[in-house]
Order: sequence, then structure tokens, then C-alpha cells
Amino acid sequence: MRLRFRLNGEPVELDAAPTGPLLELVRSLGLTGTKEGCAVGVCGLCSVLVDDRPVSSCLYLCGFLDGSEVWTVEGLAAAEPRLVEAFVEHEAMQCGICTPGQVVAAAALRRASPHAGREEIRRHLGGNLCRCTGYETIIEAVSSYLVEP
Ligand code: FES
Ligand code: FES
Repeated sequence: MRLRFRLNGEPVELDAAPTGPLLELVRSLGLTGTKEGCAVGVCGLCSVLVDDRPVSSCLYLCGFLDGSEVWTVEGLAAAEPRLVEAFVEHEAMQCGICTPGQVVAAAALRRASPHAGREEIRRHLGGNLCRCTGYETIIEAVSSYLVEP
């Protein structure tokens, strides 16, 4: 299936199996910041933005991509340096495997609710699991990122 969409701000045109997962597609393009965890839509490790909404790329089928705007953690980090700086400043990671998904979730929240408070941040990040249980620093980082102008 021929697909035309935008990836990290750039137009992309390629052939892909419509039933293949977006996770495999972005990683095959060298965007390996998007991680696979559960592969069943539960952990949030594989989060990317599609049309400003966070999706689990392990479940998102490439056939739905045509005409979409996709952002991975690499593109978001380049476009919004403050996003990653907030995580670094607050030491909001331990092993780091969940961090790309957390960063993508933070970017999605800024688009949907730029003045979100701690409880809303906590609810919004509910689908992004951290096995190192570093949630407090992650919430601090996202809170700091949201209040930046
Ligand atoms: S790998 Fe996609 S939600 Fe866990
Ligand atoms: S930092 Fe290790 S799983 Fe979140």
C-alpha cells in the first residue's frame, strides 16, 4: 500500500503493509527511540503522536497513516528542546526504557491541556508505565515543561 504522510515535520511517501504496526515502520526508518514493551497496547513505551494524539504504535496499523501527521520522540525532542531538558533537569528517569513514551505523552498533554495541574498530569500519564516507579520526578518534569512559555 502506498502511504503519504508527514513524519517529524517532513513529507514521507513509501510502501508499507497496511496491517503492519506503526512501531515497526518508524523503527525501520531508523527512529529507534520508540520502544517496544508489552506489544499489546498496555505499557505506553511505544507512544507516538498521530495528529496530536498519543497512540500505541505497537497496535496502530500503517493502513490508517495516509494523510496523517506523525511525531516520534526524536522529532519532538528536536522541535521542542525544553521537553527533554525538563526530564533531565528533574532526573525523571532511572533505566530510561519508558522515557520516550513519557516524553511523547507530555508533548500530547501540552497540546491538549497546556495548563494541566498535577492531578491531570497524573491521570494523563496513567497509560505510561514506569517499572522503576519514578513517577514523582516524571510528574515534576512534565509540570515544569507545561508551565514554560
Ligand atoms: S509496546 Fe505498545 S503499549 Fe506496550
Ligand atoms: S525509568 Fe525504568 S521503566 Fe521508567
